[in-house]
Amino acid sequence: MSRTEAVLAFDRLEEGKPRRVKVESEEIVLVRLKDKVYALEDRCSHEDYPLSEGWVDDGKLCCSLHGAQFDPATGEALTLPAYEDVRTYPTRVIDGTVEIDLEREE
Ligand code: FES
Repeated sequence: MSRTEAVLAFDRLEEGKPRRVKVESEEIVLVRLKDKVYALEDRCSHEDYPLSEGWVDDGKLCCSLHGAQFDPATGEALTLPAYEDVRTYPTRVIDGTVEIDLEREE
């Protein structure tokens, strides 16, 4: 089952700059790396801080509160103090628009 929502024009995403979007009740952070877009829940698994306040370093999404790093593609927690992964959502770009599947977890 899928529940796909169009969220943003692809060209409004800056390379390597996390961007928060709200889709229905879900807070999501988008990360653009080259021509790919990744979507993760906008909540660090350490202390629930918004990951959209962070930055991207060497392809990793960094939490600005205590510096934990996550893999944007898988949500895997790569460094302490976070040790739990964050949810990711499948994305696609159709006709220049980023779409997120809210039902299916990657
Ligand atoms: S809240 Fe993100 S590392 Fe602590």
